[in-house]
Amino acid sequence: MLRGKKVLLRPVKRTDIQYFLKWFNDLEVTQYLNMSLPMTEMAEEKFIEGLGADKTQAFFVIEAIEGDLSKPIGSTGLGSISARDHNATFGIAIGDKDYWSKGYGTEAARLIINYGFEQLNLRRISSSVFAFNERSLRMHRSVGFKEEGRQREHIYKNGKFHDLIILGMLMEEWRGL
Ligand SMILES: CC(C)(COP(=O)(O)OP(=O)(O)OC[C@H]1O[C@@H](n2cnc3c(N)ncnc32)[C@H](O)[C@@H]1OP(=O)(O)O)[C@@H](O)C(=O)NCCC(=O)NCCS
Repeated sequence: MLRGKKVLLRPVKRTDIQYFLKWFNDLEVTQYLNMSLPMTEMAEEKFIEGLGADKTQAFFVIEAIEGDLSKPIGSTGLGSISARDHNATFGIAIGDKDYWSKGYGTEAARLIINYGFEQLNLRRISSSVFAFNERSLRMHRSVGFKEEGRQREHIYKNGKFHDLIILGMLMEEWRGL
């Protein structure tokens, strides 16, 4: 478990399916994610089942710390972890909208990035953000990601094509922060 001041990150449990189904079928949440099809219980079961044996993914549930208790509010993880190249891709979603814009995402991102560099010995973490997702872009910049490029009109969402911003961070940049 990874613990900060406002959030903790813990491994996924089977009973988390109820949260995933709620969060990842909410169009206000998924408008920012690379998914458009409805998320089914079967797909979630398969995903959670697969996590156990998959060494290329480190996936956590984000819980908001509230006194002695904590409450699931989203998920974050590193995917496509390459043992050869020492790199991975970062992803995050605060699924409970009551917890948006209150600093939870930024702290969760710092915890998972630190885990990637200091526990998994990654050299580079990549990410990508839809150009219209100003909040996520600000979060990426404030945790230390640098913009590396823009794929023009890469994403189709809500009847329009949008640019995709490519970001990256290196271990020495993280350690230098
Ligand atoms: C993106 C996300 C993880 C950010 O986490 P959060 O807890 O909501 O955001 P934070 O409170 O940590 O704020 C992050 C930054 O955005 C800014 N911000 C907050 N609300 C904002 C808004 N409505 N518009 C623009 N910027 C905003 C904050 O000021 C902060 O920037 P700063 O550090 O420069 O001050 C979260 O909103 C989320 O999961 N959204 C839905 C799914 C998603 O977008 N996932 C990311 C896909 S790449």
